[in-house]
Parts: sequence; structure tokens; C-alpha cells
Amino acid sequence: MGKASALIPGAARARCARIFDAGTGLVERILGVADPLVPPLRLRLHVGPFLDPRVYKVSAERNLEALQALCSLVPTTRFLDIGCGCGRLASALVAVIEPPGSYEGFDTAEEPIEWCRRHIGSRFPNFGFRATDTFSLRYNPYGASAAEELTFPYADDYFDIVFAGSVYTHMLPGEVSNFISESRRVLRPGGISFATFCLLTDRSLPLVKAGKSSPPLPYVFGDCMVRDPNDPASFIAQPEGFVRSCFTNSGFQFLGPIRYGSWVGRERLPELLEPYGFDQDIIVAQKLDRN
Ligand SMILES: C[S@@+](CC[C@H](N)C(=O)[O-])C[C@H]1O[C@@H](n2cnc3c(N)ncnc32)[C@H](O)[C@@H]1O
Repeated sequence: MGKASALIPGAARARCARIFDAGTGLVERILGVADPLVPPLRLRLHVGPFLDPRVYKVSAERNLEALQALCSLVPTTRFLDIGCGCGRLASALVAVIEPPGSYEGFDTAEEPIEWCRRHIGSRFPNFGFRATDTFSLRYNPYGASAAEELTFPYADDYFDIVFAGSVYTHMLPGEVSNFISESRRVLRPGGISFATFCLLTDRSLPLVKAGKSSPPLPYVFGDCMVRDPNDPASFIAQPEGFVRSCFTNSGFQFLGPIRYGSWVGRERLPELLEPYGFDQDIIVAQKLDRN
């Protein structure tokens, strides 16, 4: 929450938000770019620079291609979307996942989850959404509990695919470690984790230090590089060795090589030409069948 908006009382802020949403919604309807599964501009900006609702939609379709190519997503898949935001990926998955397949998304922020329930869950009963209310200075500053200690609100061995897109770039190392371990718990044996990161390697670290990453991450925070030392989880790159050990210690094996994105040191493509719609590094890993 911005410093200025924190000075406005909650009820007035909610009213301003409603007026803003109505205004931007009207403009998008007039321009012929409104879509019932695409949230208002204000919520889209919660998850990325999605000024144009069409870009928001296409980015999700590109992510869907990645899941179909790398994780064998099929209509009967049981899918978990960690940090699902305002349902960007869900808006594309509704065209693919059918009962008995199902989708569950959770996020620490309540408002986008409420929007998802009203606009996606109400139309697609096999799509569920939950708010977990963990603390995140950027996304949920009044969160009641610690992400490092969260037990995902789902049963063991249930999901076929667990997805975390651009979420671990907003979480501290202890939180990431817990979320990867929880991902393993809720995946069925042989189930697949698909997650994106900004990984620090011998190649990427010097480039980040030289200011060549997008976004710039100029501050050292432990073994990580961050955008803002006062809010390190606002945007964070983690050492590849640390992330690899989170997966292997939790009982995952890597499926294929890490697919390095263009967030640092590679020629940046127009957003929608990025392979699979991500500029971050992609790790695909499979739950080993052991305790
Ligand atoms: C950059 S957005 C990406 C949203 C969504 N995954 C997408 O691809 O559109 C990061 C999301 O992670 C969520 N998030 C951050 N920390 C979280 C946590 N500890 N637990 C659950 N969600 C979290 C934020 O609220 C936000 O919706």
C-alpha cells in the first residue's frame, strides 16, 4: 500500500477503488477490450504491468502452452496455483480443466481472491479460491501469520500439478523453502511442480550487480539480491544453489534443464514473445515416490 493511500480511511479508500474500477471498466467496454474473466485495471496491476487487458489474457495463454508442453496438463488434472493473484492463469485454464479435473488457487491477498470467487468460481464450480492471510509487506501488510510456517490448506498427495508463477520472486528464502516443501506434500507421487524464479548463478550475479537485470536489484540481502532493502521481498533473486537444494531436500527430481529467462543478460523480447510468456527462470520438478 502506498504511503499516501495509507492516510485515507479504509471506507473512503474502498469507495475510491470502486469509482476507479467503474471508470476504467467503462473505458475498456467502450474500447471493446473488456472481458468477464479479466479483472479491473487496479487488480491487474497487483500482479504485473498489465495495462492492456488483452496482454493480460495472452500472457496467461502463453503460460498455458508452457504447462501443456512441460507438465502434461490435461482436462482431468488437479491443479494448484500458489499465489494465484486475481486468477490470471485460471482465466485461461477454464478452457482446459473439466470435472473431475479441478483447480484451486490461493493467495495471501484477500481482495483479488474475492474477485476470483465472484467472477471465476461462480461460473466454474470446479475452480476454488482461498485467501491465506500471511504477512507480506508488499501484498498483505496486515497479514496475521508467517508464510514460513504456512501449512497449505489442502490434503496430502492430492494435486497433479502445483504452479507458482512469479511468486517466489516475492518471498524470502525461509518462506520459499517452506512453500516448496508444502508443494511436495500436496502433490501426488509423480506430480509436477512448475515454478519461476530469478536465479543467481556465476553468470547472472555479475550482470545483476552491473545493473543489467529487469527489474534492477542493486542491494545485497544475505545471499540474495533485492530491489528494496527496506522490503526485500518486494522483488528478490535467490541463489540457484539454494533453490536447487530446496527441491532436492524436499524430495523432488528435476525434469529437464532449468529454462533460463531473459530477466538478466539476454536480449529482452517483447513481453508476449517470451518463451511460454515468462521472462523469469523456469524450474520443472517431479515429486519422488518416497517419504
Ligand atoms: C507477481 S504476482 C503473480 C500472481 C500470479 N501468480 C500470476 O502469475 O498472475 C505475485 C503474487 O504472489 C502473491 N503472494 C506474495 N506472497 C505470498 C504468500 N506468502 N502466499 C501467497 N501468495 C503470495 C501476491 O499477493 C501476488 O498475487
